[in-house]
Amino acid sequence: MTAFPLSRRGFLAASSAAAALVALPPAARSETQRISLVARTDATAPLVAPEGPPTAVWSYNGEVPGPLIRARQGDVLEAAFENRLDEPTTVHWHGLRIPIEMDGAPYISQAPTPPGGTFDYRFELKDAGVYWYHPHVNSSTQLGRGLRGAIIVDEPEAPEVERDVIWVIDDWRLDTEAQLMPFGQRHDGHHAGRIGNVITVNGSIAVEAPVRAGERIRLRLLNVANARSLKLRFETIDPWLMALDGHPVTARQLGGGSIKLGAGQRADLILDVALAPGETARVIDDAYGEANSFEMMRFVASAEPALRAAPPPAPESLPPNPVATPDLANARRHTLLLEGGAMRQLDGATRGHETLDLTAMMQAGLFWTMNGAVPAEHGMSAPLFDFTLGETQLIEIENRTAFEHPVHLHGHSFHVLGDGADPLAGAPIRDTVMVAPDHSAMIAFVADNPGDWMMHCHILEHQEAGMMGVARVA
Ligand code: C2O
Ligand code: CU
Repeated sequence: MTAFPLSRRGFLAASSAAAALVALPPAARSETQRISLVARTDATAPLVAPEGPPTAVWSYNGEVPGPLIRARQGDVLEAAFENRLDEPTTVHWHGLRIPIEMDGAPYISQAPTPPGGTFDYRFELKDAGVYWYHPHVNSSTQLGRGLRGAIIVDEPEAPEVERDVIWVIDDWRLDTEAQLMPFGQRHDGHHAGRIGNVITVNGSIAVEAPVRAGERIRLRLLNVANARSLKLRFETIDPWLMALDGHPVTARQLGGGSIKLGAGQRADLILDVALAPGETARVIDDAYGEANSFEMMRFVASAEPALRAAPPPAPESLPPNPVATPDLANARRHTLLLEGGAMRQLDGATRGHETLDLTAMMQAGLFWTMNGAVPAEHGMSAPLFDFTLGETQLIEIENRTAFEHPVHLHGHSFHVLGDGADPLAGAPIRDTVMVAPDHSAMIAFVADNPGDWMMHCHILEHQEAGMMGVARVA
């Protein structure tokens, strides 16, 4: 499967600008935000609309992406979940630092919710930013069929902008009838995962985003693809990078550089629309090289006169979330080795108390290991790590494979260390870190949330093929 979204243009008879830049209202002023989420198999979504046929999807509440959950920092979220799928599922709250009982990790934090079953989730939203929710059972299929939605948690005082907008960017592998192609392709498991051929923004192919010259827009980017990485370059408009995976960074302009978003990752931008009335500017994706680059979106400034003559003053950095600062001098050091996959040899793996040779692994559809291990059925018999509650953990994630992996940890946000004299200086705080082939990443965090936390590659086909384990904090 090529990385280039081949069918995209084919489906595009007319441009659909509808959902691409709809301004979001702020959260209702209530201390408890209540939502009901129903996982269903009976909806269709106009992914390739307006001319294309509707796609049969699995959805939360009949919507793809699922309903946007919006709350304010410090609010309590109550989500009444009902499973109307024909198979068990859970809801995981990606990036939110919540108690383990609410984490939606099957067989680890809860029993999967059976068909017809319900589960009430309830937790406090400690951190502002962009997060998301999705199942954690049969993930490649359940997410890939459309079960995913965004969460925005507002800062007590949000920066002033004319519009606040989210792009939930998804990647689908559709046939010529716009229906999902079969899941569980072995090749995806040991290569780059289920890379699709149709990219949607907020649930439909969108090519044009209407803007007004001179306006300031807060643009939140969320990559919910099963596997696809994005690397977005903005022409003419030079965005301010405000936050990564929900957590503020020192506001800085991209300056012609691009923003990379692996599966599961998010970025908050502020755009000053430096276009003249009627002018356009492209957003280009070139995550898979120049040869495979494509135009993901095009900003089109209306004919209205510019909202302001000159760009407003630089935005102030957002206030930090209450994430503990790692104590590097007293950190416990660990290594997380990623091995396996196509083009690299594995001898075998441990699974609980057994040892699997390569043949046994292949038969079980297991192609990857973390520290030489694959998860036992229904969770992990032995945690990859045992962390003492309250101590700083320093993990070198070493990727000895030929593929990149977005590595995600539940229940914590970690600092991605730099290699300067002060590794914490400017270190972004994330929940998913992209580790390039034959490269390493250093992450550090205070293990301050007790529980058994999943740690896995967010390429869902890799996760299901062995790249998953548990970090125990006790
Ligand atoms: Cu998006 Cu295990 O997570
Ligand atoms: Cu991976």
